[in-house]
Amino acid sequence: MSEEVNYKLYGEFGDRYDQHTPAHHYQHDHEFVLSRARAHGKHCRLLDLGCGTGIFLEKALAEGFNPFGLDCAPQMIGLAQQRVGECRALLGEMQAFDFKEPFDCIVSLSWSINYCEDREQLQDLLQRCYRALSPGGELILQVAHAPNAETTEPDFFVDKEFGPAGAQDIVLSYRFWAEDQVTMMAEYHFECVSTNESFRETHRLQSANALSIATLLVAAGFERVELLDDCRGWELNSSISPFILARKPME
Ligand SMILES: C[S@@+](CC[C@H](N)C(=O)[O-])C[C@H]1O[C@@H](n2cnc3c(N)ncnc32)[C@H](O)[C@@H]1O
Repeated sequence: MSEEVNYKLYGEFGDRYDQHTPAHHYQHDHEFVLSRARAHGKHCRLLDLGCGTGIFLEKALAEGFNPFGLDCAPQMIGLAQQRVGECRALLGEMQAFDFKEPFDCIVSLSWSINYCEDREQLQDLLQRCYRALSPGGELILQVAHAPNAETTEPDFFVDKEFGPAGAQDIVLSYRFWAEDQVTMMAEYHFECVSTNESFRETHRLQSANALSIATLLVAAGFERVELLDDCRGWELNSSISPFILARKPME
């Protein structure tokens, strides 16, 4: 996410993120990723790029893993630090991440890597992931996939969630559409009825094409690259939010 793009969803309103997008919305995705990480041992050293408010990090820590997260939004990382501690949730741009010790698993969920500004930046990030993994280490990405999205602006989905004044106090409306084969647009409209707050913004998700990301992964040296429709593990078909799995060779 470039410095000029300062989305309210993660910034000014970042402290409402867990209210409008509660953890149970993506618990199956988290269970799937945890199950993959378990294959890397009880003390799997794991990095979550664009970790948001740290819900996944907290689950990874409870599992006995050794998890670290990185996010560039101070409001989001502040919540993650409350969950897992300051030394595990770090403020910073994923494009510049640099850790001395290798990771067994690197994950990036809910389209965080699609905030890379262009294909070159994403390519550099994937090469950085390759270098940061130990031999046999695994990269797990959940990405936006524009080819399966509608090409005109669809109707909004509307979620009503618990807020300061109780049930249905927070309303998050959202819709996604493809601008082209590699660009997905995500429009969010947040409202809190009791506090009379609201905002509307559209995010541009770049390199939003799982097939093209897979090509970059192979070029970076990854093997066993798999594209899955979703956390049920079927191959990519109609999803706009597939998983990509890739391994660093054992050497
Ligand atoms: C849709 S949220 C997903 C958060 C979390 N992964 C989850 O699944 O709930 C995207 C996150 O990516 C973060 N992000 C966007 N660009 C980033 C960047 N360049 N470096 C690090 N984090 C970034 C945002 O601040 C936000 O927290």
